[in-house]
Amino acid sequence: MKKRTPMVAGNWKMNKTLSEACELLESLKPELAEVSTVDLVVCTPFIDLPLAKDLLAESNIKVGAQNLHWENSGAFTGEISAPMLKELCDYVIIGHSERRAMFGETDETVNKKVVAALVVGLKPIVCVGETLGENEAGQTEAVVDRMVREGLKGLSQEDAKNLVIAYEPVWAIGTGKTATPDQANDVHKNVVRPILREMFGEEIGEGMRILYGGSVKPGNAAELFNQSDIDGGLIGGASLKTADFVGIVQGAL
Ligand code: 13P
Repeated sequence: MKKRTPMVAGNWKMNKTLSEACELLESLKPELAEVSTVDLVVCTPFIDLPLAKDLLAESNIKVGAQNLHWENSGAFTGEISAPMLKELCDYVIIGHSERRAMFGETDETVNKKVVAALVVGLKPIVCVGETLGENEAGQTEAVVDRMVREGLKGLSQEDAKNLVIAYEPVWAIGTGKTATPDQANDVHKNVVRPILREMFGEEIGEGMRILYGGSVKPGNAAELFNQSDIDGGLIGGASLKTADFVGIVQGAL
């Protein structure tokens, strides 16, 4: 029996038009209706959020966004704020490696976004993870350590209770190359968890969920999720197909 309730969250990234989203959500709902021991989340593109909110209102699947701006309102063309999201969803992914690599996100902006989300009661899923180059240079621990400390800087114990961390080694995202269960658990258990304990105290640090992300599939999910400190997954490609996402959720049961 796991100490922490596992979570399986889908990150749809920039996929699914409204009609495609409708189809996927309608097919996921009955397939997952009996799941009560795993927290389920789908993080959709902004435009799909109102639909997801309506379709999933009476279901056991929560809705999340994939990004937000740290200001509440104002002259920030093209951006979406925490108060706007709060009316539509419960979770928000922050600091995904694709946003860090392609859209200029830094530890500092991640921290601002985490604070903005928490202020309105959104639950951040904060992503950390090293690139292939950093991994090969033996910098995994240093990079992940920095991202966790800087991203969660200044947060209280109460804040920490509403946070989920996702360790996503960049070299494993969308590449079909999964970190081995031992490799991933080593980072969760020996890098991320001790920092969380140090920052937020033993009990809260021990209770926080650390998801793994990077080429999780139905065939490798159970073995990953069985590790002591892997508390579920953040799923990209496989969250776009009902059978794959359901298969991964089964790995967490
Ligand atoms: P894949 O599952 O497609 O590797 O993506 C992982 C991810 O980036 C989830 O946020």
